[in-house]
Amino acid sequence: MADLRTRYLGLELRSPLVASSSPLTGSLDGLRRLEAAGAGAVVLPSLFEEELAEAQPRPDLEPGERAGYGAGPDAYLALVTRAKQELSVPVIASLNGVSRGGWSGYAARLEEAGADALELNVYYVSSRPGQSGSDVEWHYLDVVRAVRRATGIPLAVKLSPYFSSLANMAGQLVEAGANGLILFNRFYQPDLDIEAMEVLPALELSTSVELRLPLRWIAILHRRHRVSLAASTGVHTATDVLKVVLAGADVAMMTSALLRNGPDHLRPLEVQVRDWMDRHGFETLDQLRGRLSQRTVPNPAAFERANYIKTLASHSAQGTRR
Ligand SMILES: Cc1cc2nc3c(=O)[nH]c(=O)nc-3n(C[C@H](O)[C@H](O)[C@H](O)COP(=O)(O)O)c2cc1C
Repeated sequence: MADLRTRYLGLELRSPLVASSSPLTGSLDGLRRLEAAGAGAVVLPSLFEEELAEAQPRPDLEPGERAGYGAGPDAYLALVTRAKQELSVPVIASLNGVSRGGWSGYAARLEEAGADALELNVYYVSSRPGQSGSDVEWHYLDVVRAVRRATGIPLAVKLSPYFSSLANMAGQLVEAGANGLILFNRFYQPDLDIEAMEVLPALELSTSVELRLPLRWIAILHRRHRVSLAASTGVHTATDVLKVVLAGADVAMMTSALLRNGPDHLRPLEVQVRDWMDRHGFETLDQLRGRLSQRTVPNPAAFERANYIKTLASHSAQGTRR
């Protein structure tokens, strides 16, 4: 039977299927169910910079049962400790912040609480005309360096796809201390309610259609820098998992699929990934990782602009057949 073990951030994972940050990973019960269903690692919801600035004890919460989304830092640390006691898969804590400040030192507390690694989500939307792209990049790197200084555990950065030169930015993040890159953060785009004349915060779950963006960038970044790569956004099926590994990912992260179908969604996925590997004669994930990365495919331009005209032309040819 195919071996699904993989390495991510220097950690040994039994499977590349990782549950990314969501309310499901914010409770001990959710974490237990994810591990039982086969998750190779779990990423807790983010502890937000804002929560660290205005931390208030929440006596209504049982310590260690639930954390994230305003429950505060004490509940968060307690969840990390409990999760480490109860789970055998790696537990990755997550910090979410944008400003330079004392909150980044919290990484040390998460390490002390037992987190195996740390994910840093820099959710930053610049709307200031006076701020240049290089200012934004500097800002990201500054935050990454501050968190890197605060902790010795592996650090992964969850970044946005909106950089002018992502391959260059990836290299700078690695220099700043990132051991892993998560491609990508999914920004929630507000919607407009034209009857109430209001801006609506709209959170919609992803579909596999959104996989194309991380897929392309994983294929481009595979083996460009000494860094682990995680795919996030649009991983729903076994085919999606195989695609991101073939492109070069070390792990495939899932949130929407697990929120929609529950943790047991992981069980058939694992079976289907193994079946495909058996049918295609692959014994280990390493044998297929990166087989369709930009460095290995016969036509590397397929991942760049050069394929643009061909793609457009193929669509108009289909159209004229009808
Ligand atoms: C309800 C919900 C809560 C989330 N909370 C967090 C969070 O706390 N921190 C974080 O880094 N990402 C968070 N995410 C983003 C997911 O971890 C993931 O990156 C994103 O949903 C894209 O992956 P998907 O297509 O598998 O859903 C959240 C997503 C959802 C839907």
